[in-house]
Amino acid sequence: MTSGAKTKPVPNGKVSASADQRERYLRDLRLSLTDRCNLRCQYCMPEDIFGERFRFTQRKDLLTPEQLVLLARTFVELGVEKIRLTGGEPLLRPELIEIIAAIRNVSAELDLALTTNGLQLPPRASALYRAGLDRVNISLDGINADVASKMAGRKINPGQILEAAEAARSAGLGVKLNAVIKKGVNDSEIIPLAHACRERGFVLRFIEYMDVGSVNGWSPSDVVSGKQIRETLNVFSDLTALSPINPSDVARSYRYEDNGLEVGFIESVSRPFCGGCTRARISATGELFTCLFSQSGTPLKPLLSQPERLRAHLAQRWQARDDHYSELRGTSAGSMIRHEEMWRLGG
Ligand code: GTP
Ligand code: 5AD
Ligand code: SF4
Ligand code: SF4
Repeated sequence: MTSGAKTKPVPNGKVSASADQRERYLRDLRLSLTDRCNLRCQYCMPEDIFGERFRFTQRKDLLTPEQLVLLARTFVELGVEKIRLTGGEPLLRPELIEIIAAIRNVSAELDLALTTNGLQLPPRASALYRAGLDRVNISLDGINADVASKMAGRKINPGQILEAAEAARSAGLGVKLNAVIKKGVNDSEIIPLAHACRERGFVLRFIEYMDVGSVNGWSPSDVVSGKQIRETLNVFSDLTALSPINPSDVARSYRYEDNGLEVGFIESVSRPFCGGCTRARISATGELFTCLFSQSGTPLKPLLSQPERLRAHLAQRWQARDDHYSELRGTSAGSMIRHEEMWRLGG
């Protein structure tokens, strides 16, 4: 930390990492537990590239539970208040329950969440809750089985994913659903998805398809904007914009006027939210990324045996951070940036 840098006291009584170059404090950590997944979503891990022969990270190269907990503790000391476990698919990590319990042990106040495709959720929802998980975000891109399966790259049953969401809620977990919309592929599912979530009282967030990674063939013409989706949702009711509860939230929240239910829009393409971005990411192999669109990560494994050096390094990396890719998208500066893949970064 250099002298004169802005710092803030954090609830654990320590002094947080300095603000970054854009006056943003470190508050959230997205921690990937594995790069493997049991789906092959066309916008993330297209089946033709990630087939049988694709080699994901070997188990011995993943961060161990002890290393994950050390990282969680260090980030909490630096000001992190929310940790989201990601993947690939985090439910594929065998030691998941143990990892959650140990991270919960780091801080009782931490908002501890997980993003999942829900396939393996029902039998494990109660154990996740008991271990200390607060909430889950579940991905589902359609109610029609053929369309949802086309997006997921594997045959899935959307009814089962909705049941998984019900099981998670019954177990005590907070639940939100995430739907990525790709023009001409699943925009026909906007109304069915909204209907299914309205019927069950689930908060649904529509996500603009993003140019993460380089293998999904993203084009701006594939994007359905949040505004267009809101116009489609008008068949149900008027929507009223809600004031943000947390300025770093990625989703803009609206309320259906007829039933008061919330619905969200993650509009990284049409309304970037870099100004409030307080997120750091760590890949399953222990690389630090300060942006979802970073060109490369910094390996942290060499520092894991020296907690003080690790802490100082993270604080220094955060202070140097100037990322704001979503504001550069479409400009010549943005086009220079090579993106790391979503399944490595956990979204
Ligand atoms: P909440 O804490 O429940 O708001 O979770 P979240 O929305 O931050 O996490 P989730 O894993 O559900 O991600 C939803 C979508 O937001 C995914 O498409 C993520 O890739 C995207 N997202 C999350 N953080 C960022 C970010 O910092 N930048 C961009 N561009 N997209 C993000
Ligand atoms: N654009 C937008 N969202 C994406 N996700 C994965 N790839 C993309 C993309 N290219 C979403 C998943 C999941 C979350 C972690 O990120 O659907 O909900
Ligand atoms: Fe798996 Fe999530 Fe990527 Fe889909 S978006 S392939 S569920 S990691
Ligand atoms: Fe944060 Fe980068 Fe996403 Fe902007 S593009 S919100 S800086 S992760």
